[in-house]
Amino acid sequence: MNDYISKPQTLDELIRSLHILFDGDKVDVDEVKAVMYAYKSNPDEWMRFAKFDNYRYTRNLVNEGNGKFNLMILCWGEGHGSSIHDHMDSHCFVKILQGHMKETLYNWPTKSNHKQQMSKKAELLYDSGQVTYINDSMGLHQVENLSHSESAVTLHLYSPPFDQCCCFDQRSGHRYPVKLTFYSKFGERTPFTTEEIAENN
Ligand SMILES: [Fe+2]
Repeated sequence: MNDYISKPQTLDELIRSLHILFDGDKVDVDEVKAVMYAYKSNPDEWMRFAKFDNYRYTRNLVNEGNGKFNLMILCWGEGHGSSIHDHMDSHCFVKILQGHMKETLYNWPTKSNHKQQMSKKAELLYDSGQVTYINDSMGLHQVENLSHSESAVTLHLYSPPFDQCCCFDQRSGHRYPVKLTFYSKFGERTPFTTEEIAENN
């Protein structure tokens, strides 16, 4: 992989590199992580996508990746967090663009621990610039901005794209399907719909 692909200097260059990396049938997870890591977060480049809501975190579509992936920016106000959720057999890459995030990994509920508290696998903290990855074989996760004074912004890549997932109740392991929506697309606020109660991934 040449520098042109592996060392993107701007968000546009990162998107171009990702299009190349996802052009084929196979995804090299380490390669994608390395390229996302190489991009140095520049708010001037992503600010137009970063739209916050007072009450919950938002999903803002940046690029549709020729149908191979969705690249989006999630904006987390102080104390905002996701539910515990799965990733629909997709790859999920996350880069912290601003602030700090906590990720809690959980084991999948099984028949034997049905109706019991879900078991935690790990709690991880990430600083700005870091990249993490999850898929369903690694378990489930919850992502949170624990700060009471700082917002956080994260860049997410999902491949293949998906528009619904399952969320889980930590106390019982009960799962429920959730439709995923975008707060904005390509920098433009998405018209409000009554479906806009969705959980995020
Ligand atoms: Fe996730």
